[in-house]
Amino acid sequence: MHNYGIRAATAEDLGGARAVMLDALYRDFGTGYVPEWHEDVVDLTGHYLTPRRHALLVAVDQQGVIAATAALDSRGPREPDWLVERYPSGETAQLRRVYVRPEHRRRGLARAMVNELVEFARADGGYRSIYLHAYRHSPGALDLWRALGKVVWEDDDGVVHFELI
Ligand SMILES: CC(C)(COP(=O)(O)OP(=O)(O)OC[C@H]1O[C@@H](n2cnc3c(N)ncnc32)[C@H](O)[C@@H]1OP(=O)(O)O)[C@@H](O)C(=O)NCCC(=O)NCCS
Repeated sequence: MHNYGIRAATAEDLGGARAVMLDALYRDFGTGYVPEWHEDVVDLTGHYLTPRRHALLVAVDQQGVIAATAALDSRGPREPDWLVERYPSGETAQLRRVYVRPEHRRRGLARAMVNELVEFARADGGYRSIYLHAYRHSPGALDLWRALGKVVWEDDDGVVHFELI
């Protein structure tokens, strides 16, 4: 962790942040870019930089290359109804796009960025919980979220829903 800087993304960081995200979508998840799931990746400014209650962090290595991303918005899950009621939009901080380039993994970057986002959510004052979902087959994801939070529900499509305390 000593060789990285973590900061709120600025306009200059967005190309590098988007590259990290797209590489994860293509190489880790195998879905590639799917417009109805990933439109925030195209409009990072509108989704994360402009809204006061949202955030996008980047981790930068010693060469200035963006090694990882982590984002937060105020949107709860879309379905099913019980999960939507438990984590309503506006009162729920959802962690999104927590992606670390493969050569920078297991160095504590995701943990450090998530800790910063948790602090951001607490400081907001309007969030009552921190939610996220992950895919069972994502490399390292379930291990990471089990280390940092608790499983709320595993659906039949291989999606695991978590809450962070
Ligand atoms: C999941 C991911 C973000 C983890 O990033 P990371 O920076 O390597 O994670 P950290 O080094 O902060 O790990 C924190 C803890 O999570 C757990 N963990 C993370 N990756 C793990 C792995 N591959 N195997 C086992 N445990 C793992 C460990 O408990 C770890 O603590 P430790 O290193 O002290 O044992 C990264 O592997 C990644 O980008 N994967 C592909 C994209 C993805 O699935 N993102 C999550 C979307 S929901």
